[in-house]
Amino acid sequence: MTNLVVIGTQWGDEGKGKIVDLLSARADTIVRFQGGHNAGHTLVIGDQIFKLSLLPSGIVRENRCTVIGNGVVLDPWKLVEEIDLLRSKGISIDPERLIISENTPLILPFHRELDVLREKASGKKKIGTTGRGIGPAYEDKVGRRALRSGDLKTVGEIKSRIRAMADHHNMLRLGYNQKVINEDLIFQEIMEIREDIIEYVGPVWQLLNDQIKAGKNLLFEGAQGSMLDVDFGTYPFVTSSSTLAGAASTGTGVSHNKIQSVLGITKAYTTRVGKGPMPTELFDEVGQLLSKIGKEKGTVTGRDRRCGWFDAPLVKRSCILNGVTGIALTKIDVLDRLEKIKICVGYRTKEKVLNEFPLSSNLVGAIEPIYEEMDGWHCNTSGMKKLSQLPNEARKYVDRIEKFLETKVTLISTGPERDETIFLEDPFL
Ligand code: IMP
Repeated sequence: MTNLVVIGTQWGDEGKGKIVDLLSARADTIVRFQGGHNAGHTLVIGDQIFKLSLLPSGIVRENRCTVIGNGVVLDPWKLVEEIDLLRSKGISIDPERLIISENTPLILPFHRELDVLREKASGKKKIGTTGRGIGPAYEDKVGRRALRSGDLKTVGEIKSRIRAMADHHNMLRLGYNQKVINEDLIFQEIMEIREDIIEYVGPVWQLLNDQIKAGKNLLFEGAQGSMLDVDFGTYPFVTSSSTLAGAASTGTGVSHNKIQSVLGITKAYTTRVGKGPMPTELFDEVGQLLSKIGKEKGTVTGRDRRCGWFDAPLVKRSCILNGVTGIALTKIDVLDRLEKIKICVGYRTKEKVLNEFPLSSNLVGAIEPIYEEMDGWHCNTSGMKKLSQLPNEARKYVDRIEKFLETKVTLISTGPERDETIFLEDPFL
């Protein structure tokens, strides 16, 4: 029995969806523990493409149990939309296969409105959020006002939570010249949607701990990336949840000492969507090539992702913060055409050289990367399944990354399909 957490080591969009889907063949239960429908996972299975943002990726596999933990913020309308979409593609979803924690806070329409209003009003200081209401929903959670999925069972609780949130939000809305919340309308909308989700709500912490006792394999599916973590990311240009592996415990009720492995999904170059500093960002034709070949467009918002060279100190910091036990290196084939490939191994400020990725966003914005240059491999690696097939230069690139990170690369992804993967070590060990 192994319980494994999968997290992104960069700014999200590392290709977690494919890897989680692949590993879910070996897991009994797949668990989301943070974030909401700001995440976007694209799964390519044969000729079918599934774009999920809320349901755990494992849902597309028959006979797998999937779980939404308390660390997630859940938009019930979005959930129902995804359930309906998957059902229309012949995937069965029932309360045996999908369980939502009783203490998962809900995203309501006024969270989304506030997210968008605030971004609009921020001018140059925009975060570039996904506009899904994620930040405001987490604010209500820690502000002890949120409506949680377990509250849906009690009409009185729904009413009193709406009241508490309205008291708070109306002050903010007035500041933005918006009408106060129509509490009756929100109540009606919640009463309508609750019938569709209430059957899935249950004591997730208990279920997962029972499963562990019974020797099942649990796979915890992180969303976003470590540099978007609310504490350790490039604050304030971050999301509002803890995106690190430790959140798998606090976001589900499974103790940290029950989790044995952490797989850090790492793109072979760097991308970022939204605002905030990115030291290795490229504004030249190499950046455009990575964007084009890597199809670097956000799954959720369709925004172009910013592209750049591999930032090794950044990923090293993630490895330490998450306790990464193995790296899954993704999209290596996107580098196939490049003459020369650069890896950032440190940074320079006006005064000094830094070996570590800085914590302060101001400093991150002011540093110059120091690069090492390596030869490209100029051949097609897409679809490769064995390490022996990889050209020498590509192996050297992987070795250099491994050496810098002091962490093993246990899997290399060479394309979007399940079988376009080189397994070097079993992540479930
Ligand atoms: P929020 O999570 O919508 O509040 O957005 C905060 C920041 O996180 C923005 O820069 C978003 O672009 C970024 N972000 C949120 N979710 C993802 C994701 O799944 N992938 C990449 N970036 C994300």
